[in-house]
Amino acid sequence: MTEVKQPLIYPSILSADFSRLGDEIRNVDRAGADGVHLDIMDGHFVPNLTIGPVVVKWIRSASGLPYWAHLMIREPMRYAEAFRDAGVDGLTFHPETVEDAVRAADQLRQMGLGAGAALNPETAIDVLDPVLERLDRVLILTVHPGFGGQKLIPEVLGKIRGLRERLRPVPKPPLIEVDGGVDAGTAAAVVDAGADVLIIGNAVFGEKDREAAIRRFRGLSVRAPVGREVPRA
Ligand code: DX5
Ligand code: ZN
Repeated sequence: MTEVKQPLIYPSILSADFSRLGDEIRNVDRAGADGVHLDIMDGHFVPNLTIGPVVVKWIRSASGLPYWAHLMIREPMRYAEAFRDAGVDGLTFHPETVEDAVRAADQLRQMGLGAGAALNPETAIDVLDPVLERLDRVLILTVHPGFGGQKLIPEVLGKIRGLRERLRPVPKPPLIEVDGGVDAGTAAAVVDAGADVLIIGNAVFGEKDREAAIRRFRGLSVRAPVGREVPRA
Protein backbone atom coordinates (compact mmCIF):
# COMPACT_ATOMS: atom_id res chain seq x y z
CA MET A 1 0.00 0.00 0.00
CA THR A 2 1.25 3.47 -0.77
CA GLU A 3 0.04 6.78 0.52
CA VAL A 4 0.62 10.24 -0.94
CA LYS A 5 2.36 12.80 1.27
CA GLN A 6 2.94 16.47 0.67
CA PRO A 7 6.21 17.63 2.23
CA LEU A 8 7.06 21.33 2.47
CA ILE A 9 9.87 22.30 0.10
CA TYR A 10 12.57 24.69 1.34
CA PRO A 11 15.22 25.38 -1.31
CA SER A 12 18.67 25.90 0.20
CA ILE A 13 20.34 28.96 -1.29
CA LEU A 14 23.79 27.40 -0.85
CA SER A 15 23.49 26.14 -4.44
CA ALA A 16 22.06 29.41 -5.80
CA ASP A 17 23.94 32.00 -7.86
CA PHE A 18 25.18 34.30 -5.07
CA SER A 19 25.69 37.20 -7.49
CA ARG A 20 21.90 37.25 -8.02
CA LEU A 21 20.56 35.98 -4.70
CA GLY A 22 17.44 38.18 -4.70
CA ASP A 23 16.46 37.01 -8.21
CA GLU A 24 17.17 33.39 -7.30
CA ILE A 25 14.84 33.61 -4.29
CA ARG A 26 12.10 35.36 -6.32
CA ASN A 27 12.47 32.60 -8.87
CA VAL A 28 11.94 29.69 -6.43
CA ASP A 29 9.11 31.61 -4.75
CA ARG A 30 7.30 31.83 -8.12
CA ALA A 31 8.19 28.18 -8.75
CA GLY A 32 6.19 27.10 -5.67
CA ALA A 33 8.66 26.84 -2.78
CA ASP A 34 7.19 26.91 0.74
CA GLY A 35 10.11 28.68 2.39
CA VAL A 36 13.77 29.58 2.05
CA HIS A 37 16.65 27.80 3.83
CA LEU A 38 19.69 29.96 4.58
CA ASP A 39 22.93 28.13 5.33
CA ILE A 40 25.06 30.23 7.66
CA MET A 41 28.65 28.95 8.07
CA ASP A 42 31.58 30.42 9.96
CA GLY A 43 34.57 28.33 8.84
CA HIS A 44 34.96 26.93 12.38
CA PHE A 45 32.01 24.70 13.09
CA VAL A 46 32.10 23.65 9.43
CA PRO A 47 34.92 24.05 6.89
CA ASN A 48 33.16 26.70 4.80
CA LEU A 49 32.02 30.33 4.97
CA THR A 50 28.81 31.85 3.70
CA ILE A 51 26.75 34.89 4.62
CA GLY A 52 25.70 36.82 7.72
CA PRO A 53 22.84 39.08 8.80
CA VAL A 54 23.90 41.93 6.48
CA VAL A 55 23.22 39.86 3.37
CA VAL A 56 20.07 38.32 4.89
CA LYS A 57 18.70 41.83 5.41
CA TRP A 58 19.24 42.68 1.74
CA ILE A 59 17.56 39.51 0.45
CA ARG A 60 14.64 39.63 2.90
CA SER A 61 12.54 41.77 0.55
CA ALA A 62 12.87 39.27 -2.32
CA SER A 63 10.02 37.11 -1.01
CA GLY A 64 7.29 36.95 1.61
CA LEU A 65 8.02 33.25 2.24
CA PRO A 66 9.33 32.14 5.65
CA TYR A 67 13.12 32.35 5.92
CA TRP A 68 14.85 29.85 8.23
CA ALA A 69 18.53 30.20 8.96
CA HIS A 70 20.54 27.05 9.68
CA LEU A 71 23.38 28.28 11.87
CA MET A 72 26.47 26.13 11.42
CA ILE A 73 28.51 28.49 13.56
CA ARG A 74 30.09 28.69 16.98
CA GLU A 75 28.15 30.80 19.47
CA PRO A 76 24.93 31.00 17.46
CA MET A 77 23.06 32.82 20.24
CA ARG A 78 25.46 35.73 19.94
CA TYR A 79 23.97 36.46 16.52
CA ALA A 80 20.32 35.55 17.16
CA GLU A 81 19.17 39.14 17.57
CA ALA A 82 21.00 40.30 14.45
CA PHE A 83 19.37 37.56 12.37
CA ARG A 84 15.97 38.36 13.90
CA ASP A 85 16.41 42.03 13.04
CA ALA A 86 17.49 41.05 9.52
CA GLY A 87 14.08 39.43 9.14
CA VAL A 88 14.44 35.67 9.58
CA ASP A 89 11.42 33.77 10.91
CA GLY A 90 13.28 30.95 12.60
CA LEU A 91 16.76 29.91 13.63
CA THR A 92 18.17 26.41 13.84
CA PHE A 93 21.23 25.80 16.01
CA HIS A 94 23.40 22.73 16.55
CA PRO A 95 23.08 21.61 20.22
CA GLU A 96 26.87 21.19 20.57
CA THR A 97 27.32 24.93 19.90
CA VAL A 98 25.16 26.16 22.80
CA GLU A 99 25.67 25.86 26.55
CA ASP A 100 22.08 24.91 27.25
CA ALA A 101 19.75 23.87 24.42
CA VAL A 102 16.60 24.36 26.52
CA ARG A 103 17.60 27.93 27.34
CA ALA A 104 18.57 28.62 23.73
CA ALA A 105 15.20 27.37 22.41
CA ASP A 106 13.28 29.37 25.02
CA GLN A 107 15.28 32.51 24.23
CA LEU A 108 14.60 32.18 20.50
CA ARG A 109 10.87 31.85 21.15
CA GLN A 110 10.90 34.81 23.51
CA MET A 111 12.51 36.80 20.71
CA GLY A 112 9.58 35.91 18.48
CA LEU A 113 11.56 33.42 16.41
CA GLY A 114 10.88 29.81 15.55
CA ALA A 115 13.34 27.50 17.33
CA GLY A 116 15.07 24.64 15.59
CA ALA A 117 17.84 22.19 16.48
CA ALA A 118 20.01 20.33 13.98
CA LEU A 119 21.65 16.94 14.32
CA ASN A 120 24.80 15.98 12.45
CA PRO A 121 24.72 12.50 10.87
CA GLU A 122 26.59 10.93 13.81
CA THR A 123 24.64 12.70 16.59
CA ALA A 124 21.98 10.57 18.32
CA ILE A 125 18.44 11.91 18.74
CA ASP A 126 18.59 11.42 22.55
CA VAL A 127 20.71 14.57 22.71
CA LEU A 128 17.48 16.47 22.10
CA ASP A 129 15.41 14.70 24.78
CA PRO A 130 15.35 17.64 27.22
CA VAL A 131 14.47 20.19 24.55
CA LEU A 132 12.36 18.26 22.07
CA GLU A 133 8.98 19.58 23.21
CA ARG A 134 10.15 23.19 23.09
CA LEU A 135 11.27 23.08 19.47
CA ASP A 136 9.36 24.06 16.35
CA ARG A 137 11.65 22.07 14.07
CA VAL A 138 14.28 19.35 14.23
CA LEU A 139 16.68 19.27 11.31
CA ILE A 140 18.30 15.94 10.50
CA LEU A 141 21.44 16.30 8.43
CA THR A 142 21.79 13.50 5.92
CA VAL A 143 25.26 14.72 4.84
CA HIS A 144 28.22 16.12 6.76
CA PRO A 145 27.47 19.85 6.87
CA GLY A 146 29.52 22.38 4.95
CA PHE A 147 28.83 21.87 1.28
CA GLY A 148 25.92 21.37 -1.11
CA GLY A 149 25.69 18.68 -3.74
CA GLN A 150 26.79 15.73 -1.56
CA LYS A 151 25.25 12.25 -1.54
CA LEU A 152 22.67 11.39 1.13
CA ILE A 153 24.01 9.00 3.79
CA PRO A 154 21.35 6.22 3.74
CA GLU A 155 22.11 5.07 7.32
CA VAL A 156 20.57 8.31 8.61
CA LEU A 157 17.11 7.27 7.37
CA GLY A 158 16.77 5.03 10.45
CA LYS A 159 17.32 8.06 12.66
CA ILE A 160 14.50 9.93 10.92
CA ARG A 161 12.21 6.96 11.59
CA GLY A 162 13.37 6.84 15.21
CA LEU A 163 12.57 10.52 15.66
CA ARG A 164 9.13 10.11 14.07
CA GLU A 165 8.42 7.31 16.59
CA ARG A 166 9.80 9.35 19.47
CA LEU A 167 7.50 12.27 18.53
CA ARG A 168 4.35 10.13 18.34
CA PRO A 169 3.18 10.89 21.93
CA VAL A 170 4.22 14.57 21.75
CA PRO A 171 1.07 16.77 21.57
CA LYS A 172 2.59 19.53 19.40
CA PRO A 173 5.54 17.83 17.74
CA PRO A 174 8.23 19.84 15.96
CA LEU A 175 8.39 19.45 12.19
CA ILE A 176 11.09 17.08 10.97
CA GLU A 177 13.33 18.69 8.35
CA VAL A 178 15.78 16.67 6.30
CA ASP A 179 18.81 18.42 4.85
CA GLY A 180 21.47 17.08 2.51
CA GLY A 181 21.45 15.01 -0.66
CA VAL A 182 17.68 15.15 -1.08
CA ASP A 183 16.98 14.68 -4.77
CA ALA A 184 14.60 12.89 -7.11
CA GLY A 185 16.19 9.55 -6.25
CA THR A 186 16.11 9.87 -2.45
CA ALA A 187 13.11 12.09 -1.61
CA ALA A 188 10.46 9.37 -1.46
CA ALA A 189 12.47 7.35 1.05
CA VAL A 190 13.13 10.47 3.13
CA VAL A 191 9.43 11.33 3.27
CA ASP A 192 8.55 7.71 3.97
CA ALA A 193 10.94 7.78 6.93
CA GLY A 194 9.01 10.74 8.36
CA ALA A 195 10.22 14.06 6.92
CA ASP A 196 7.78 16.98 6.95
CA VAL A 197 10.13 19.46 5.28
CA LEU A 198 12.61 18.74 2.49
CA ILE A 199 15.58 21.09 2.31
CA ILE A 200 16.92 20.92 -1.21
CA GLY A 201 19.92 22.75 -2.64
CA ASN A 202 21.44 21.29 -5.74
CA ALA A 203 18.32 19.45 -6.96
CA VAL A 204 16.45 22.80 -7.17
CA PHE A 205 19.04 25.52 -7.80
CA GLY A 206 21.13 23.23 -10.01
CA GLU A 207 18.17 22.83 -12.38
CA LYS A 208 17.25 25.35 -15.06
CA ASP A 209 13.50 24.88 -14.67
CA ARG A 210 12.88 25.40 -10.95
CA GLU A 211 9.15 24.88 -11.24
CA ALA A 212 9.63 21.41 -12.73
CA ALA A 213 12.36 20.74 -10.15
CA ILE A 214 10.04 21.56 -7.23
CA ARG A 215 7.08 19.72 -8.78
CA ARG A 216 9.07 16.48 -8.65
CA PHE A 217 8.89 16.59 -4.85
CA ARG A 218 5.14 17.15 -4.67
CA GLY A 219 2.72 14.37 -3.87
CA LEU A 220 5.36 11.76 -3.15
CA SER A 221 4.13 8.20 -2.95
CA VAL A 222 5.85 6.88 0.10
CA ARG A 223 7.25 3.41 0.87
CA ALA A 224 10.01 3.54 -1.72
CA PRO A 225 13.60 2.39 -1.17
CA VAL A 226 16.49 4.85 -1.57
CA GLY A 227 17.66 5.08 -5.14
CA ARG A 228 14.30 4.61 -6.78
CA GLU A 229 13.38 7.48 -9.08
CA VAL A 230 10.52 9.61 -7.77
CA PRO A 231 7.62 9.60 -10.22
CA ARG A 232 7.11 12.98 -11.87
CA ALA A 233 3.84 14.67 -10.90
C1 DX5 B 1 24.84 21.38 4.11
C2 DX5 B 1 23.68 22.33 4.15
C3 DX5 B 1 22.56 22.01 3.24
C4 DX5 B 1 22.92 21.96 1.78
C5 DX5 B 1 21.98 21.04 1.08
O1 DX5 B 1 25.81 21.87 4.96
O2 DX5 B 1 23.17 22.39 5.48
O3 DX5 B 1 21.46 22.89 3.46
O4 DX5 B 1 22.89 23.21 1.18
O5 DX5 B 1 22.33 21.00 -0.26
P1 DX5 B 1 22.07 19.73 -1.18
O6 DX5 B 1 20.58 19.58 -1.30
O7 DX5 B 1 22.71 20.11 -2.47
O8 DX5 B 1 22.69 18.53 -0.51
ZN1 ZN C 1 21.29 23.52 5.80
